[in-house]
Formats: sequence, structure tokens, C-alpha cells
Amino acid sequence: MDLGLQNRVAIVTGSARGIGAETARFLAREGMAVVITDLDGDGAAATAAQIVAAGGRAIGTACDVRREAPVRQMVAAAREAFGRVDVLVNNAGLVKDRTLLKMDEADWDLVLDVTLKGAFHCCRAALPLMHENGWGRVVNISSRALFGNPGQANYSAAKAGIVGFTRALAMEQGRKGVTVNAIAPGFIETDYIKSLPNFDTIVENVKAKNLVPFAGQPGDVAGAVAFLASEHARYITGTTLYVTGGRYG
Ligand SMILES: NC(=O)c1ccc[n+]([C@@H]2O[C@H](COP(=O)([O-])OP(=O)(O)OC[C@H]3O[C@@H](n4cnc5c(N)ncnc54)[C@H](O)[C@@H]3O)[C@@H](O)[C@H]2O)c1
Repeated sequence: MDLGLQNRVAIVTGSARGIGAETARFLAREGMAVVITDLDGDGAAATAAQIVAAGGRAIGTACDVRREAPVRQMVAAAREAFGRVDVLVNNAGLVKDRTLLKMDEADWDLVLDVTLKGAFHCCRAALPLMHENGWGRVVNISSRALFGNPGQANYSAAKAGIVGFTRALAMEQGRKGVTVNAIAPGFIETDYIKSLPNFDTIVENVKAKNLVPFAGQPGDVAGAVAFLASEHARYITGTTLYVTGGRYG
């Protein structure tokens, strides 16, 4: 299937590793130029170099999505390198898990700021470039945790918040040629998760709860992002796509 993404330009936040890196590699294989941006600038540069070595087009930049000035610099670097921005994937995120009474205010703020304020800054910086061409795609990475997980009040609030943000922005942007959707992944086997000491137990638990008898891979999310970014998804906006192996609760 031709996704019609050749020569378009994507920014993927939090793409030094994990789901973001796999999404950037996927989009690059579809012919997109990709901006790899992450708090981890060295990791971003390494992922970009890997894409370039494989014949793709990519740049890597360090950027903290919580701060407006670096986000605006990152989007300016995207335009300087590739001349336009068509797709923004708000993927940067993290967990700081604790039950509520043990949760620090700083851990609450960090998780909400990276997820929600990060998407706010990145959208405000990138949308005007999409408007220049009358075409754009925003894909926000939420989580199945939006339905609630014990020990994740901050993360669940942030990931539910990003769904409301997605719907409001879709209402504002549809007539400007920009669709805005969210993806809610379930458990995804990233390298980081594979490195956890209790990885095997976690995966067995996931397999038991999923409707399909396996855990998700980063490519499962990357493929969903590519679809929502493509021409084939032009009539889809304001929605949340669950990439969870059928699990909701
Ligand atoms: N892995 C899963 O099972 C899973 C499930 C549901 C949702 N998600 C979501 O998918 C996204 C990617 O997750 P992942 O598993 O690949 O995580 P990851 O930790 O491997 O990658 C996240 C990246 O975000 C970057 N980041 C963190 N704070 C940042 C900031 N302030 N500015 C810029 N970059 C920042 C990190 O440096 C890291 O490289 C996250 O939004 C996560 O919440 C993951």
C-alpha cells in the first residue's frame, strides 16, 4: 500500500529510542524526511545517523518539549533542513509511578508537563508550517493507561488529557487541512522494558490479559502512526486508535 508520504517531513518527539525511534525509522522507510528530537541529544543524533546510514533522510536534535524556546528552535531546524513540516508525532513521555499519597508534586508536574505542555508547545510551533501547505497530520501518543492504572494517577491523567486535547485541536484544525488523532498503545516491548529484571513476568501477565496471545512491538505503534499520517486516513480526525491487542481495562 502506498501511504503517499514520500517527500513529506515528520517531526517525532522522544525519538532517540523506543516507540519514537521505531516510528521515525518506519516513516523514513516510507520516504519521509524525519526530525529525531529528544531530551537525549546524543541518542537523537545516533538514531538519525542510523536512518541516514540506511539511505534515509534524518536530522537529530536535542530538545526538551516542556520548554517553548527549544521547541521553536527544533521546528526551525526542521524547516531549515527539509523546507517544510507535514507531520508531528507527539511521542515524548515518561512514567513516574507511585500511589497518590506517596507521589511528589514534582513527579506529578513532570509527567503532565512532558505529555501535555510538550504537545501544546510542539503543536503551536509546528501547526503554522502545516497551514502554509494546507495539509498536516498531528498524531498524539496516549496510552491504554488513560482508563486508569494503580500507581499511575499522574500518567493516567496526562494520557486521558491528551485525548481531550486531541479532540479539541481536531475541531480547530479540520478546516485548515490538518487532522489530529491519538494512539493509545497497550504494553509495547521496547528495549528499555526488555531490560527490566521482571520482564518475563510482565510479558506473561500481558499475554494473559490481551485478546491476542502476544505483546505489542514498537513497529505495531509505528504502523498505526504511519496510517494516520497517510492519505488513507484523510477522513479520520479527533479519534483515538487503540493499539492494545484488544485490551482496554
Ligand atoms: N512502551 C509502552 O508499553 C507504552 C505503552 C503506552 C504508551 N506509551 C507511550 O509511548 C511513548 C514512547 O514510549 P517508549 O516506551 O518508547 O518510552 P521510552 O522511555 O523508551 O522513550 C521515550 C523518549 O522520550 C524522551 N523524553 C522524555 N522526556 C522528554 C522531554 N522532556 N523532551 C523530549 N524528550 C523527552 C526520552 O528521553 C525517551 O527517549 C510515550 O509517550 C509513552 O508514554 C508507551
